[in-house]
Amino acid sequence: MRSREEARLRSLVRSHERWRTRECLNLLASENLSSAAVQEYLSSDLGRRYTLPMHQEVHGEVVDNGYGGTRYTDQVEALASSAAARLFHGRWASVRPLSGHIAALCVLAPLLPRGARYMAVFPEDGGYDGYSPGFLPALLGHQVLPLSLYGPTHRADPEEVARSIRRDRPDAVLLGQSFVLFPYPLREIAEVAHEVGALVLYDASHVLGLIAGGLFQDPLREGADVLFGSTHKSFFGPQGGLLVTDREDLFLQIDSSLTWRTLDNAHWNRIAALGQALLEMERVGGKYARRVVENSRALAAALDQEGVPVVGRDEGYTASHQVFLDGDGLRSRFGAGPPGLARRLESQDIIIDLVGRLGSAEVSRLGLRPEDMAELARLIRRAMEGRPVRREVHALRKRFPTPAFL
Ligand SMILES: Cc1ncc(COP(=O)(O)O)c(C=O)c1O
Repeated sequence: MRSREEARLRSLVRSHERWRTRECLNLLASENLSSAAVQEYLSSDLGRRYTLPMHQEVHGEVVDNGYGGTRYTDQVEALASSAAARLFHGRWASVRPLSGHIAALCVLAPLLPRGARYMAVFPEDGGYDGYSPGFLPALLGHQVLPLSLYGPTHRADPEEVARSIRRDRPDAVLLGQSFVLFPYPLREIAEVAHEVGALVLYDASHVLGLIAGGLFQDPLREGADVLFGSTHKSFFGPQGGLLVTDREDLFLQIDSSLTWRTLDNAHWNRIAALGQALLEMERVGGKYARRVVENSRALAAALDQEGVPVVGRDEGYTASHQVFLDGDGLRSRFGAGPPGLARRLESQDIIIDLVGRLGSAEVSRLGLRPEDMAELARLIRRAMEGRPVRREVHALRKRFPTPAFL
């Protein structure tokens, strides 16, 4: 018989499942839904197995793998890696990184020696906290310099960025943000970076699904040396990471340091699930990504019309899956900032983060269209005013029960 703790655990997991997958409207920019096939592979036996491809002498014999039973596992990984390389226009890819953060570690640790200096966007300009001085740079012994952006939409001015690259002469320029609305002027930045001998590393964690669908930008073709990131934000895969490059020398450096420096077990169930999501993207990514961006623009405009302060009207609001809320505007309009309003929304089963950002990826994956964004914006405005809208939220969610774009 199950213990009380087991029963409680089961009930927690099931309650979460019902709430988050059937009742809520999820507008977190960092999350998405995956297909039934992706879910199936995630819970497959591959998640209990090991493989260690090698070509090496062991006990007097040359072997191809340190483990037995890997007949299918290595083919699954090869298939997923080639799909990643094709989709992101590189020649070499690894699907081993366990997350976006680990992908950054897998790239930064082998490519930049201790004492190296790189430029990255700091959190005050929308950058990822992991690149702040106390985190990955402290772990790896790197010095990080600010790559400054401008304005509330956090955009890069190519001339300003070029000036600071020429002044600071870093070993690498790391592009990528957690708060991201618009692409970088990447060709211009890459040209100057390469001129001073710096690598261009592109953290696509947030925008990977848009890039996969041929939108936003095409980092490797525009001059990035390595692209890496999470596979579960705008990209609708399992939680995990990947990296892709067109440069064999860099790939060999990264790949040879994966096993036993940054990783051992790479979770081959996740890799099978990621392979599936990559193949789905090859088939439907264009349509999906277009819908995501159309929806985020339509949502921003509809919120603006409802009197919910958003950022970037004069710039067309957004070219990504994200919409930025204007914190000061919200406080004067609703008497609360993003954290308080996020709690009001959550009490009505609309999920947003507490830092002032909305994301259209998951509702787009469910099949909502730009014409549905007016209704969604109205529900958000009314929930922000403290009115009860839970029933309407559930009714809207019920109209879109399972992922579209299959
Ligand atoms: C730009 C960026 N890079 C990396 C990460 C880390 O990704 P993960 O949570 O997959 O480790 C994040 C997470 O939000 C991010 O925004």
